[in-house]
Amino acid sequence: MSVDMPDPHTVQIAPLLLDWYDRNARILPWRSPPGTPAPDPYRVWLSEIMLQQTTVAAVKSYFEAFTTRWPDVAALAAAYDADVMSAWAGLGYYARARNLLACARTVVSQHGGNFPDDEAGLLKLPGVGRYTAAAVAAIAFGRRATVMDANVERVVARLFAVTEPLPEAKNRLYALTDTITPDARAGDFAQAMMDLGATICTPKAPKCLICPLSALCAAQAAGNAEALPAKAPKKAKPVRRGTIFWIERDGHVWLVRRPDKGLLGGMRAFPTGPWTSEAPGLAAAPLAAAGWSELPGHVRHVFTHFALELSIVGTRIENSCVDQGAGEWWRIDAIGTAGLPTVFAKAAHRVLEEGEWLTG
Ligand code: ADE
Ligand code: SF4
Repeated sequence: MSVDMPDPHTVQIAPLLLDWYDRNARILPWRSPPGTPAPDPYRVWLSEIMLQQTTVAAVKSYFEAFTTRWPDVAALAAAYDADVMSAWAGLGYYARARNLLACARTVVSQHGGNFPDDEAGLLKLPGVGRYTAAAVAAIAFGRRATVMDANVERVVARLFAVTEPLPEAKNRLYALTDTITPDARAGDFAQAMMDLGATICTPKAPKCLICPLSALCAAQAAGNAEALPAKAPKKAKPVRRGTIFWIERDGHVWLVRRPDKGLLGGMRAFPTGPWTSEAPGLAAAPLAAAGWSELPGHVRHVFTHFALELSIVGTRIENSCVDQGAGEWWRIDAIGTAGLPTVFAKAAHRVLEEGEWLTG
């Protein structure tokens, strides 16, 4: 076969998959059903940012809340940073929320409130990388674009029986995804690949017997589907340790806002000292209180590059001897409304389940 002649199997993939999608597309709040006009670019962009490193199930309620409160990009651009950060609390990867606002404001101030309608224009927006630019161009604007996320990576690795491990195989998988992406309906094709990966070509026990692509799938033929994509062995994550300072006064607890730069940047939080390999104890306590009591156990949370283990110490004070400019007193019985990221929400939960632990 000559080099520019596509493999006959390759050109059959898109029509078969789109036919399957027409009958089986998942109904999702940011989606238009197959064959209906494209959804609002704002909703496509917002959903694709939320869905990065996050499951469809986790995103649904956040997407509904955001689009109810900020129905278009102009509304989001006009929001207070603190409101958006609180509304994002629990979704994780908080740089996404900071970039979300920067992007909405750029679209309004530099593009008259309209998203650029091609990949090159989209790529220039804050927080929009190769994946998001391609997804928005294809899904919202009907452009042909190569859209590859982890689901697509897995399906393609199996269809072509690519045994080279991730992440080295990424460029190869991207090129293969490109070869099977059709000129028409690239947005539906991308979402069909994602749906296939989420429901049929699953990481464990893929359902090859009911897969619309099984007759074209090299891994199915070779019997190694579940082993693909191969992954380079993971390095163990380092552990960092820190201390949460629970400062209580008259039914309120002291919250600070974390610096904009860095992990959990811009989010409300309990004061903590530094996070280091050795437990820092009371180093960097925000006040030289008479006595700190320690809760037994730790709060653990796994981030991308390390695992965090926090102990919790608390004190109860009478007068506000904390630096008033640096934070705020939050009613303990309304701590659920503070917009705490998950690690601090876990800590609050741990304190509240302990009941009366501070006597001071
Ligand atoms: N994951 C990321 N984007 C998605 C989409 N548009 N549909 C389904 N799953 C997705
Ligand atoms: Fe995935 Fe199996 Fe379908 Fe191949 S046949 S794409 S491995 S579900």
